[in-house]
This record gives sequence, structure tokens and C-alpha cells, in this order.
Amino acid sequence: MSKDLIIFYSSTNYNRKVAEIVAVKTSADLFEVKPVKAYDTNMWVAWDVAKREREENNLPKLATDYPDMSKYDRIFFGGPSWGFTISNPLQTFLQTADFASKRVYPWVTFYDHDENYLSDLKKQAKNAEVQPLLELTMGVLNNRADLGETIENWLKKIGE
Ligand SMILES: Cc1cc2nc3c(=O)[nH]c(=O)nc-3n(C[C@H](O)[C@H](O)[C@H](O)COP(=O)(O)O)c2cc1C
Repeated sequence: MSKDLIIFYSSTNYNRKVAEIVAVKTSADLFEVKPVKAYDTNMWVAWDVAKREREENNLPKLATDYPDMSKYDRIFFGGPSWGFTISNPLQTFLQTADFASKRVYPWVTFYDHDENYLSDLKKQAKNAEVQPLLELTMGVLNNRADLGETIENWLKKIGE
């Protein structure tokens, strides 16, 4: 039987919600990436820290390990847009992770800016076949029925 893996990071639980819905619909395993030190849940306080980390080339250390991706058929990869691109904890994860030539299905959550997310992911995800990006804005994320339907349609399109 085919098996999928969901890798996600979530600071304020939007991505956790998405990951859990995808897990129920696909029976995939869940892998949560966690930084050693959690970011403030206030976006602007968190951005002050995250921006400085980027400027100083000092991405956060992770409290979590790395999954063996070779065991899986497909990898889902989800997280928030931070400063138009991949969140700092997932950037740390990507420095070490090896996607083992698997197809990677990314999603992103954001308010209105994720311009660099997909191109940066294609650059940073080692040995990944990165597929089109599912973009989830707050309007959809805050409406349970819309979110469920959007994820359902996405999974249908990618052959679930
Ligand atoms: C440090 C930080 C930077 C962010 N930068 C952006 C951004 O550039 N564009 C945007 O639309 N939203 C931005 N946001 C909003 C996040 O995308 C939003 O909080 C996130 O999608 C929520 O996901 P989560 O609850 O799983 O953490 C930022 C949030 C944080 C904490």
C-alpha cells in the first residue's frame, strides 16, 4: 500500500489544521518541524526575530530530527509564508533534509504575499520533484467548509 508523509511547521496552528485535514483524507504520517525556541505568536514580534536571523545568517536550531523520506511515496510539505518566502524553521529543515527523489506537494498559508515561496522551495529542497504550490489565504483558512473543499479538490487533482 502506498504511504505518504506530511511535513509541516506551524506557529499559530493554521498549518496544523491543514496538516490534520490532509492526514485524515490521505492516511499520511505526520511530521511536525519544531524550533528549539518557539517564536512569539505576535506576527511583528516574531518577524523582528526572524528578520534578524536571516540578516545574520543564523537560522534557528530545531528540536526535531529528520524523517526517512525514502519510505514514502509522496511528501506533502506545508508552512506559512514569512517575509514572502519559506519560514525560518522550514529553511533550517531544508538545509539538511534529503527528499530522496520523491514528488513533493507543497502548500503555503499567508495573508497576501508569498512571491518567492515556490522558487525558493525549488532551490532549497534537495532531490525533490517539487509540484505546483497550493496557496491558502486567511479567507479560506478561516472557513472550515471552504478549507475542506479546497484541500479535497487539491488532492483530487494530484490523484488522491
Ligand atoms: C515572522 C512572520 C512573517 C510573516 N510574513 C508574511 C508575509 O511576508 N506575507 C504574508 O502574507 N504573511 C506573512 N505572515 C503571516 C503568516 O503567513 C501567517 O501568520 C501564517 O500563515 C499562519 O500560519 P501558522 O498559524 O501555521 O503559523 C508572517 C507571519 C510571521 C509570524
